Amino acid sequence: MSRPREGTGGGRWSRRGVLLAGATAGVGALSGAVVARSTATEPEPTGPPRPHGEGSVSFHGTRQAGIETPPQANVRLLGLDLNADTDAEGVRRLLSLLGDDVARLSRGEGALADTEPELAAVPARLTVTFGFGRGLVERVAPDAVPAWLTDLPGFDHDALRSEWGQTDLLLQVCSDDPVTVAHAARVLLRDARAHTRVRWIQDGFRRAHGSERDGTTMRNLMGQVDGTVNPAPGTEDFDHLVWSEDGPGWLAGGTSLVLRRIATHLDTWEELDRPAREAVVGRRLADGSPLTGESEHDAPDFAATDAGGLTVIADFAHIRRARSEDPEERVFRRGYNYEDPASGESGLLFVCFQSDPVRRFVPIQRRLDELDLLNEWVTAVGSAVYAVPPGCAEGGFVGEGLWKG
Ligand code: HEM
Repeated sequence: MSRPREGTGGGRWSRRGVLLAGATAGVGALSGAVVARSTATEPEPTGPPRPHGEGSVSFHGTRQAGIETPPQANVRLLGLDLNADTDAEGVRRLLSLLGDDVARLSRGEGALADTEPELAAVPARLTVTFGFGRGLVERVAPDAVPAWLTDLPGFDHDALRSEWGQTDLLLQVCSDDPVTVAHAARVLLRDARAHTRVRWIQDGFRRAHGSERDGTTMRNLMGQVDGTVNPAPGTEDFDHLVWSEDGPGWLAGGTSLVLRRIATHLDTWEELDRPAREAVVGRRLADGSPLTGESEHDAPDFAATDAGGLTVIADFAHIRRARSEDPEERVFRRGYNYEDPASGESGLLFVCFQSDPVRRFVPIQRRLDELDLLNEWVTAVGSAVYAVPPGCAEGGFVGEGLWKG
């Protein structure tokens, strides 16, 4: 699938970008397409650069936005539980209303009855991705729950807290502007209030838009370059690993989302010297290059040994343990850093997408649980799994397939 991305760089809209934007609007907007609010008939802009905040990502399309979309700077994850008296019809009304909100907000328009539509005027690539927990699917179509939509197995190193546990509904709100995120989240929570209660809200961040060149791999708060080896959106490999090919019909073209809130213990991490910190992962802190290579995207040589006969990338290194010999055991990582200044806890909102979490995520997590020196400095404190339906066309809503049998 093509993903025009013109206009994300904060520079002037190029002629190609303007044409693409017009063309994209004309075909009903591909998922993930970044469009400028301009038309193909507009002349080449000559004034100051258009603000990046005008960039928007269509809510409508065959896939939900916020998965293949190049990660925005900020995320707010809203974990909601359905009220006991919300029936299938209530869920339908809820999803339809939220979908209408997201469609408008993504275009830079206020939601219906938005008291602060001015805050919506800067979408800054706003996306809202819907994930359904088992509870929601059971409420609507108990026979259509995918087998994998259940709690992950227990892992020895986990210290899960129920306050960060599974919810019925997840809304992943992403934008390059934190004011936009706050406004969108407020609107969505307002409109969800009749049918849900908030279980948790988790905020995450990457570097601000424009701080680094587009395409730079993110750094986590341990200082590591994090996200180097990841399936590339738009490739057959990605499509195969991420989009659901079997399972219930309502999920065809959808995916699954695993969320792990992983606390990092920076005080003890900082006691390690640099070579030790690099050995734990198997990559250099300076540029993310593997210990056996020279630049970030060099393939690690897991067989290489040092003068003493020891493997350069140790048996316990995170990248060795995270990599499977089975190419089916891979996921697409799209996580964010988090920090709770009040408690001092910080870490990673580890988010990954894959067609089947049991087939793809669990084997990786099992290997890490068995042996990964990084476990000394990281602890999963929250965990949840969601079914992520395909996208919807204008006038539809995400998850509508649940009502179509
Ligand atoms: C706080 C926890 C974690 C930290 C700090 C962390 C950090 C890193 C870093 C620095 C890399 C190397 C660069 C890269 O390719 O991205 C990496 C690779 C990787 N991590 Fe993690 N990670 C964490 C948790 C996890 C978890 C929970 C999983 C999945 C179960 C995972 C799966 C992977 C995979 C698949 C790779 C690529 C391995 C390869 O080279 O083939 N990581 N991680």
